Amino acid sequence: MSTYAGTPEAPAGASGAPPSDGPEPPVLEAVGLTKHYPVHGGGARGQRRSAVVHAVDGVDLSLHRGKVVALVGESGSGKSTIARLLAQLQPLTAGRLLLRGDDARTRGRRAFRRYVGKVQMIFQDPFGSLNPVHPVRYTLTRAVRIHQGRLRGQELEDALAALLERVHLTPVERYVDKYPHELSGGQRQRVAIARALAADPEVLLADEPISMLDVSIRLGILNLLADLRDRLHLAILYITHDIASARYFADTTLVMYAGRVVESGDSESVTQRPRHPYTRLLVSSAPDPDALAERAAAPPKGEPPSLVSPPAGCRFHPRCPFATDLCRTEVPPLLDVGRGPGGEPLRAACWGWSDRDGAPQVPADEGREA
Ligand SMILES: Nc1ncnc2c1ncn2[C@@H]1O[C@H](COP(=O)(O)OP(=O)(O)OP(=O)(O)O)[C@@H](O)[C@H]1O
Ligand code: SF4
Ligand SMILES: [Mg+2]
Repeated sequence: MSTYAGTPEAPAGASGAPPSDGPEPPVLEAVGLTKHYPVHGGGARGQRRSAVVHAVDGVDLSLHRGKVVALVGESGSGKSTIARLLAQLQPLTAGRLLLRGDDARTRGRRAFRRYVGKVQMIFQDPFGSLNPVHPVRYTLTRAVRIHQGRLRGQELEDALAALLERVHLTPVERYVDKYPHELSGGQRQRVAIARALAADPEVLLADEPISMLDVSIRLGILNLLADLRDRLHLAILYITHDIASARYFADTTLVMYAGRVVESGDSESVTQRPRHPYTRLLVSSAPDPDALAERAAAPPKGEPPSLVSPPAGCRFHPRCPFATDLCRTEVPPLLDVGRGPGGEPLRAACWGWSDRDGAPQVPADEGREA
Protein backbone atom coordinates (compact mmCIF):
# COMPACT_ATOMS: atom_id res chain seq x y z
CA MET A 1 0.00 0.00 0.00
CA SER A 2 1.38 3.37 -0.94
CA THR A 3 1.70 5.61 2.08
CA TYR A 4 1.00 8.51 -0.25
CA ALA A 5 -2.46 7.27 -1.13
CA GLY A 6 -3.16 5.97 2.32
CA THR A 7 -1.96 8.73 4.63
CA PRO A 8 -4.63 10.47 6.71
CA GLU A 9 -3.82 13.76 4.98
CA ALA A 10 -4.64 12.30 1.54
CA PRO A 11 -7.30 14.65 0.16
CA ALA A 12 -10.89 13.55 -0.22
CA GLY A 13 -11.54 12.17 -3.67
CA ALA A 14 -7.87 11.47 -4.31
CA SER A 15 -8.38 7.78 -4.91
CA GLY A 16 -10.82 8.05 -7.78
CA ALA A 17 -13.91 8.82 -5.71
CA PRO A 18 -14.34 12.53 -6.35
CA PRO A 19 -16.74 14.51 -4.23
CA SER A 20 -19.54 15.05 -6.70
CA ASP A 21 -23.29 14.84 -6.97
CA GLY A 22 -23.12 13.55 -10.52
CA PRO A 23 -21.65 14.35 -13.88
CA GLU A 24 -21.53 18.03 -14.72
CA PRO A 25 -20.76 19.34 -18.18
CA PRO A 26 -17.11 20.31 -18.58
CA VAL A 27 -16.17 23.88 -17.85
CA LEU A 28 -13.27 23.81 -20.30
CA GLU A 29 -13.00 21.38 -23.16
CA ALA A 30 -10.43 20.85 -25.91
CA VAL A 31 -11.31 18.88 -29.00
CA GLY A 32 -8.63 17.77 -31.45
CA LEU A 33 -6.12 20.16 -29.87
CA THR A 34 -3.13 20.46 -32.20
CA LYS A 35 0.02 22.56 -32.12
CA HIS A 36 2.74 22.45 -34.76
CA TYR A 37 5.67 24.81 -34.29
CA PRO A 38 7.44 25.88 -37.47
CA VAL A 39 11.21 25.69 -37.13
CA HIS A 40 13.87 26.74 -39.57
CA GLY A 41 16.70 24.36 -40.27
CA GLY A 42 20.26 25.28 -41.21
CA GLY A 43 21.55 25.75 -44.75
CA ALA A 44 22.68 28.62 -46.88
CA ARG A 45 20.56 31.74 -47.17
CA GLY A 46 17.79 31.18 -49.67
CA GLN A 47 18.06 27.40 -49.21
CA ARG A 48 16.88 27.22 -45.60
CA ARG A 49 14.62 24.26 -45.00
CA SER A 50 11.57 24.72 -42.84
CA ALA A 51 10.23 21.94 -40.72
CA VAL A 52 7.48 21.50 -38.20
CA VAL A 53 7.60 20.24 -34.61
CA HIS A 54 4.47 18.14 -34.01
CA ALA A 55 4.24 19.15 -30.36
CA VAL A 56 0.58 18.23 -29.82
CA ASP A 57 -1.63 16.24 -32.19
CA GLY A 58 -5.37 15.75 -31.86
CA VAL A 59 -5.74 15.81 -28.07
CA ASP A 60 -9.22 15.74 -26.49
CA LEU A 61 -9.50 16.89 -22.90
CA SER A 62 -12.33 17.87 -20.54
CA LEU A 63 -11.96 19.73 -17.26
CA HIS A 64 -14.84 19.59 -14.78
CA ARG A 65 -15.38 21.75 -11.72
CA GLY A 66 -14.35 20.05 -8.49
CA LYS A 67 -12.14 17.53 -10.33
CA VAL A 68 -8.43 17.17 -11.07
CA VAL A 69 -7.14 15.86 -14.39
CA ALA A 70 -3.47 14.85 -14.46
CA LEU A 71 -1.44 15.08 -17.64
CA VAL A 72 1.54 12.76 -17.33
CA GLY A 73 4.43 12.09 -19.68
CA GLU A 74 8.14 12.35 -20.31
CA SER A 75 9.95 15.57 -21.06
CA GLY A 76 8.98 16.94 -24.47
CA SER A 77 5.72 14.99 -24.74
CA GLY A 78 3.69 18.20 -25.14
CA LYS A 79 2.31 18.76 -21.62
CA SER A 80 3.26 22.44 -21.26
CA THR A 81 2.19 23.13 -24.82
CA ILE A 82 -1.28 21.90 -23.91
CA ALA A 83 -1.32 24.21 -20.86
CA ARG A 84 -0.26 27.17 -23.00
CA LEU A 85 -2.95 26.39 -25.57
CA LEU A 86 -5.64 26.06 -22.88
CA ALA A 87 -4.48 29.36 -21.38
CA GLN A 88 -4.60 30.87 -24.89
CA LEU A 89 -1.02 32.05 -24.59
CA GLN A 90 -0.44 30.60 -28.05
CA PRO A 91 -2.75 30.09 -31.03
CA LEU A 92 -3.94 26.58 -31.90
CA THR A 93 -2.81 25.02 -35.17
CA ALA A 94 -6.08 23.10 -35.26
CA GLY A 95 -8.84 21.96 -32.93
CA ARG A 96 -11.43 23.66 -30.79
CA LEU A 97 -11.48 25.14 -27.32
CA LEU A 98 -14.83 25.39 -25.56
CA LEU A 99 -15.64 27.28 -22.36
CA ARG A 100 -18.97 26.04 -21.01
CA GLY A 101 -19.78 24.73 -24.46
CA ASP A 102 -19.06 27.96 -26.37
CA ASP A 103 -16.11 28.72 -28.59
CA ALA A 104 -13.53 30.02 -26.12
CA ARG A 105 -11.09 31.54 -28.55
CA THR A 106 -10.69 35.20 -27.78
CA ARG A 107 -10.06 38.08 -30.12
CA GLY A 108 -8.87 41.32 -28.57
CA ARG A 109 -7.55 42.28 -25.16
CA ARG A 110 -10.86 42.63 -23.35
CA ALA A 111 -12.07 39.17 -24.36
CA PHE A 112 -8.70 37.70 -23.40
CA ARG A 113 -8.88 39.41 -20.00
CA ARG A 114 -12.34 37.97 -19.41
CA TYR A 115 -11.02 34.52 -20.33
CA VAL A 116 -8.04 34.88 -18.01
CA GLY A 117 -10.51 35.71 -15.25
CA LYS A 118 -11.90 32.20 -15.65
CA VAL A 119 -8.77 30.23 -16.55
CA GLN A 120 -5.63 30.89 -14.52
CA MET A 121 -2.21 29.29 -14.78
CA ILE A 122 0.43 28.56 -12.18
CA PHE A 123 3.95 27.72 -13.21
CA GLN A 124 6.71 25.36 -12.22
CA ASP A 125 9.14 27.99 -11.02
CA PRO A 126 7.89 30.07 -8.08
CA PHE A 127 11.28 31.83 -8.08
CA GLY A 128 10.84 33.12 -11.63
CA SER A 129 7.12 33.81 -11.54
CA LEU A 130 7.18 36.46 -8.77
CA ASN A 131 8.83 39.80 -9.44
CA PRO A 132 11.75 40.02 -6.95
CA VAL A 133 11.53 43.80 -6.55
CA HIS A 134 7.95 43.81 -5.26
CA PRO A 135 6.58 42.59 -1.91
CA VAL A 136 3.64 40.19 -1.67
CA ARG A 137 1.30 43.14 -1.03
CA TYR A 138 2.13 44.68 -4.43
CA THR A 139 1.80 41.38 -6.35
CA LEU A 140 -1.58 40.59 -4.83
CA THR A 141 -2.91 44.17 -4.97
CA ARG A 142 -2.19 44.29 -8.68
CA ALA A 143 -4.03 41.00 -9.26
CA VAL A 144 -6.96 42.11 -7.08
CA ARG A 145 -7.26 45.41 -8.96
CA ILE A 146 -7.12 43.73 -12.36
CA HIS A 147 -9.83 41.24 -11.50
CA GLN A 148 -11.90 42.78 -8.71
CA GLY A 149 -11.80 46.51 -9.43
CA ARG A 150 -10.01 49.37 -7.71
CA LEU A 151 -10.43 48.34 -4.10
CA ARG A 152 -8.82 50.67 -1.53
CA GLY A 153 -8.28 51.00 2.21
CA GLN A 154 -9.87 48.37 4.44
CA GLU A 155 -11.64 46.69 1.51
CA LEU A 156 -8.29 46.08 -0.15
CA GLU A 157 -6.69 44.90 3.12
CA ASP A 158 -9.56 42.45 3.60
CA ALA A 159 -9.19 41.11 0.06
CA LEU A 160 -5.43 40.58 0.53
CA ALA A 161 -5.99 38.89 3.89
CA ALA A 162 -8.64 36.59 2.41
CA LEU A 163 -6.25 35.50 -0.36
CA LEU A 164 -3.37 34.79 2.02
CA GLU A 165 -5.66 32.90 4.38
CA ARG A 166 -6.96 30.80 1.49
CA VAL A 167 -3.42 29.57 0.77
CA HIS A 168 -2.70 29.16 4.49
CA LEU A 169 -0.10 31.93 4.74
CA THR A 170 -1.10 33.03 8.20
CA PRO A 171 -0.84 35.11 10.28
CA VAL A 172 -1.29 37.41 7.31
CA GLU A 173 0.86 40.22 8.82
CA ARG A 174 3.86 37.89 8.77
CA TYR A 175 3.74 37.49 4.98
CA VAL A 176 2.02 40.45 3.36
CA ASP A 177 5.03 42.79 3.37
CA LYS A 178 7.66 40.15 2.62
CA TYR A 179 9.74 40.18 -0.58
CA PRO A 180 10.05 36.95 -2.60
CA HIS A 181 13.66 36.39 -1.43
CA GLU A 182 12.41 36.36 2.16
CA LEU A 183 10.08 33.44 1.45
CA SER A 184 10.72 29.72 0.97
CA GLY A 185 9.93 28.07 -2.38
CA GLY A 186 6.71 26.62 -0.99
CA GLN A 187 5.64 30.00 0.40
CA ARG A 188 6.33 31.63 -2.97
CA GLN A 189 4.27 28.99 -4.74
CA ARG A 190 1.45 29.74 -2.27
CA VAL A 191 1.71 33.44 -3.15
CA ALA A 192 1.57 32.52 -6.87
CA ILE A 193 -1.54 30.43 -6.18
CA ALA A 194 -3.09 33.32 -4.19
CA ARG A 195 -2.40 35.62 -7.12
CA ALA A 196 -4.23 33.19 -9.43
CA LEU A 197 -7.15 33.00 -6.98
CA ALA A 198 -7.53 36.81 -7.04
CA ALA A 199 -9.28 36.29 -10.38
CA ASP A 200 -11.82 33.95 -8.76
CA PRO A 201 -11.17 31.44 -11.56
CA GLU A 202 -13.10 28.32 -12.47
CA VAL A 203 -10.06 26.56 -13.92
CA LEU A 204 -6.49 26.31 -12.63
CA LEU A 205 -3.78 25.06 -14.99
CA ALA A 206 -0.88 23.89 -12.82
CA ASP A 207 2.25 23.12 -14.84
CA GLU A 208 4.51 20.97 -12.63
CA PRO A 209 3.65 23.05 -9.55
CA ILE A 210 5.75 20.99 -7.12
CA SER A 211 8.68 19.75 -9.19
CA MET A 212 11.03 22.61 -8.24
CA LEU A 213 10.10 22.60 -4.58
CA ASP A 214 11.90 21.04 -1.69
CA VAL A 215 10.82 17.44 -1.08
CA SER A 216 9.41 18.20 2.35
CA ILE A 217 6.89 20.76 1.14
CA ARG A 218 5.57 19.12 -2.03
CA LEU A 219 2.81 17.25 -0.28
CA GLY A 220 1.66 20.45 1.43
CA ILE A 221 1.19 22.20 -1.93
CA LEU A 222 -0.71 19.23 -3.41
CA ASN A 223 -2.93 19.17 -0.33
CA LEU A 224 -3.54 22.90 -0.70
CA LEU A 225 -4.58 22.41 -4.35
CA ALA A 226 -6.87 19.55 -3.33
CA ASP A 227 -8.41 21.79 -0.66
CA LEU A 228 -9.03 24.51 -3.27
CA ARG A 229 -10.54 21.95 -5.63
CA ASP A 230 -13.00 20.94 -2.94
CA ARG A 231 -13.72 24.29 -1.28
CA LEU A 232 -13.75 26.51 -4.38
CA HIS A 233 -14.96 23.77 -6.72
CA LEU A 234 -12.05 24.45 -9.07
CA ALA A 235 -11.32 22.42 -12.17
CA ILE A 236 -7.60 21.67 -12.05
CA LEU A 237 -5.23 20.46 -14.76
CA TYR A 238 -2.21 19.00 -12.97
CA ILE A 239 0.82 18.51 -15.19
CA THR A 240 3.53 16.20 -13.92
CA HIS A 241 6.32 13.79 -14.84
CA ASP A 242 5.44 11.76 -11.82
CA ILE A 243 2.70 9.20 -12.39
CA ALA A 244 2.59 8.26 -8.69
CA SER A 245 1.59 11.79 -7.71
CA ALA A 246 -1.18 11.63 -10.34
CA ARG A 247 -2.61 8.61 -8.54
CA TYR A 248 -2.53 10.44 -5.25
CA PHE A 249 -3.98 13.72 -6.39
CA ALA A 250 -5.95 13.39 -9.65
CA ASP A 251 -9.39 11.96 -10.34
CA THR A 252 -8.57 11.29 -14.00
CA THR A 253 -5.17 10.70 -15.59
CA LEU A 254 -4.16 11.20 -19.22
CA VAL A 255 -0.82 9.79 -20.33
CA MET A 256 0.93 11.58 -23.18
CA TYR A 257 3.55 10.24 -25.51
CA ALA A 258 5.15 12.30 -28.29
CA GLY A 259 2.30 14.78 -28.58
CA ARG A 260 -0.58 12.34 -28.31
CA VAL A 261 -2.71 10.95 -25.50
CA VAL A 262 -2.01 7.21 -25.32
CA GLU A 263 -4.07 6.24 -22.28
CA SER A 264 -6.83 7.77 -20.19
CA GLY A 265 -9.13 6.78 -17.36
CA ASP A 266 -9.61 7.12 -13.63
CA SER A 267 -6.25 7.59 -11.94
CA GLU A 268 -6.39 4.39 -9.90
CA SER A 269 -6.94 2.20 -12.98
CA VAL A 270 -4.39 4.01 -15.16
CA THR A 271 -1.66 3.89 -12.54
CA GLN A 272 -2.37 0.46 -11.05
CA ARG A 273 -3.54 -1.52 -14.08
CA PRO A 274 -2.11 0.32 -17.08
CA ARG A 275 -3.11 -1.06 -20.48
CA HIS A 276 -0.75 0.79 -22.80
CA PRO A 277 2.84 -0.52 -23.07
CA TYR A 278 4.18 3.02 -22.62
CA THR A 279 2.20 3.60 -19.42
CA ARG A 280 3.51 0.27 -18.13
CA LEU A 281 7.04 1.46 -18.85
CA LEU A 282 6.34 4.74 -17.08
CA VAL A 283 4.87 2.98 -14.05
CA SER A 284 7.73 0.47 -13.87
CA SER A 285 10.27 3.31 -13.96
CA ALA A 286 8.69 4.69 -10.79
CA PRO A 287 9.28 1.55 -8.72
CA ASP A 288 8.70 2.94 -5.28
CA PRO A 289 5.37 4.69 -4.90
CA ASP A 290 5.98 5.13 -1.18
CA ALA A 291 8.93 7.37 -1.95
CA LEU A 292 6.84 9.54 -4.22
CA ALA A 293 7.87 12.86 -2.82
CA GLU A 294 11.54 12.00 -2.70
CA ARG A 295 12.56 11.57 -6.28
CA ALA A 296 11.96 12.79 -9.72
CA ALA A 297 10.58 9.92 -11.80
CA ALA A 298 13.42 8.11 -13.57
CA PRO A 299 13.02 8.44 -17.34
CA PRO A 300 11.80 5.21 -18.94
CA LYS A 301 14.31 3.28 -21.01
CA GLY A 302 14.83 4.36 -24.62
CA GLU A 303 14.58 7.73 -26.28
CA PRO A 304 11.42 9.61 -27.19
CA PRO A 305 11.17 10.14 -30.95
CA SER A 306 11.88 13.27 -32.96
CA LEU A 307 8.76 15.38 -33.18
CA VAL A 308 9.99 16.94 -36.43
CA SER A 309 9.58 13.64 -38.25
CA PRO A 310 7.68 11.44 -35.80
CA PRO A 311 7.51 7.70 -36.50
CA ALA A 312 4.63 6.59 -38.71
CA GLY A 313 1.83 4.59 -37.13
CA CYS A 314 2.07 4.31 -33.37
CA ARG A 315 4.71 6.82 -32.27
CA PHE A 316 5.80 4.43 -29.54
CA HIS A 317 6.62 1.58 -31.94
CA PRO A 318 10.44 2.07 -32.03
CA ARG A 319 10.51 1.43 -28.26
CA CYS A 320 7.74 -1.11 -28.00
CA PRO A 321 8.60 -4.80 -27.53
CA PHE A 322 5.25 -5.87 -29.05
CA ALA A 323 5.28 -3.79 -32.26
CA THR A 324 4.04 -5.38 -35.48
CA ASP A 325 3.75 -4.05 -39.03
CA LEU A 326 0.28 -2.74 -38.20
CA CYS A 327 1.82 -0.62 -35.43
CA ARG A 328 4.45 0.69 -37.82
CA THR A 329 1.96 1.82 -40.44
CA GLU A 330 -1.36 2.85 -38.87
CA VAL A 331 -2.04 5.26 -36.05
CA PRO A 332 -3.97 3.46 -33.28
CA PRO A 333 -7.05 5.38 -32.13
CA LEU A 334 -7.97 5.58 -28.44
CA LEU A 335 -9.85 2.31 -27.99
CA ASP A 336 -12.24 1.43 -25.18
CA VAL A 337 -10.39 -1.08 -23.01
CA GLY A 338 -12.62 -1.31 -19.95
CA ARG A 339 -14.44 0.65 -17.28
CA GLY A 340 -13.24 2.28 -14.08
CA PRO A 341 -14.84 1.72 -10.68
CA GLY A 342 -17.44 4.43 -11.36
CA GLY A 343 -18.19 3.11 -14.86
CA GLU A 344 -15.99 5.72 -16.53
CA PRO A 345 -14.34 4.59 -19.78
CA LEU A 346 -10.72 3.44 -19.82
CA ARG A 347 -9.00 4.04 -23.14
CA ALA A 348 -5.68 3.07 -24.69
CA ALA A 349 -4.25 3.95 -28.09
CA CYS A 350 -2.74 0.54 -28.78
CA TRP A 351 -3.52 -1.99 -31.48
CA GLY A 352 -3.05 -4.72 -28.90
CA TRP A 353 -6.59 -3.98 -27.74
CA SER A 354 -8.12 -4.37 -31.19
CA ASP A 355 -9.15 -7.42 -33.18
CA ARG A 356 -7.44 -6.17 -36.34
CA ASP A 357 -5.48 -8.62 -38.48
CA GLY A 358 -1.82 -8.40 -37.53
CA ALA A 359 -2.61 -6.86 -34.14
CA PRO A 360 0.23 -7.22 -31.60
CA GLN A 361 -0.01 -9.62 -28.67
CA VAL A 362 0.09 -7.30 -25.68
CA PRO A 363 -0.32 -9.09 -22.33
CA ALA A 364 -3.83 -8.31 -21.10
CA ASP A 365 -3.12 -7.42 -17.54
CA GLU A 366 -0.03 -6.31 -15.74
CA GLY A 367 -1.90 -4.82 -12.83
CA ARG A 368 0.14 -4.01 -9.78
CA GLU A 369 -1.05 -4.29 -6.25
CA ALA A 370 -1.29 -0.95 -4.51
N1 LIG B 1 8.19 27.63 -29.25
C1 LIG B 1 8.56 26.43 -29.69
N2 LIG B 1 9.14 26.26 -30.90
C2 LIG B 1 9.49 25.03 -31.34
N3 LIG B 1 9.33 23.88 -30.64
C3 LIG B 1 8.78 24.00 -29.42
C4 LIG B 1 8.36 25.26 -28.88
N4 LIG B 1 7.85 25.03 -27.64
C5 LIG B 1 7.92 23.69 -27.42
N5 LIG B 1 8.49 23.09 -28.50
C6 LIG B 1 8.72 21.64 -28.65
O1 LIG B 1 7.47 21.02 -28.50
C7 LIG B 1 7.64 19.76 -27.84
C8 LIG B 1 6.76 19.71 -26.61
O2 LIG B 1 7.26 20.65 -25.67
P1 LIG B 1 6.60 20.87 -24.23
O3 LIG B 1 7.33 21.99 -23.57
O4 LIG B 1 5.15 21.02 -24.40
O5 LIG B 1 6.90 19.47 -23.52
P2 LIG B 1 6.69 19.05 -22.00
O6 LIG B 1 5.98 17.75 -22.03
O7 LIG B 1 6.09 20.17 -21.24
O8 LIG B 1 8.17 18.80 -21.52
P3 LIG B 1 8.84 19.02 -20.05
O9 LIG B 1 8.36 17.87 -19.24
O10 LIG B 1 10.31 18.98 -20.32
O11 LIG B 1 8.38 20.35 -19.51
C9 LIG B 1 9.13 19.65 -27.53
O12 LIG B 1 9.73 18.89 -28.56
C10 LIG B 1 9.61 21.06 -27.56
O13 LIG B 1 10.96 21.13 -27.95
S1 SF4 C 1 0.18 0.02 -31.00
FE1 SF4 C 1 1.83 -1.48 -31.22
S2 SF4 C 1 3.72 -0.28 -30.98
FE2 SF4 C 1 2.03 0.95 -30.19
S3 SF4 C 1 1.98 0.52 -28.04
FE3 SF4 C 1 0.54 -0.90 -28.98
S4 SF4 C 1 1.75 -2.75 -29.39
FE4 SF4 C 1 3.21 -1.12 -28.98
MG1 LIG D 1 6.73 21.28 -19.58
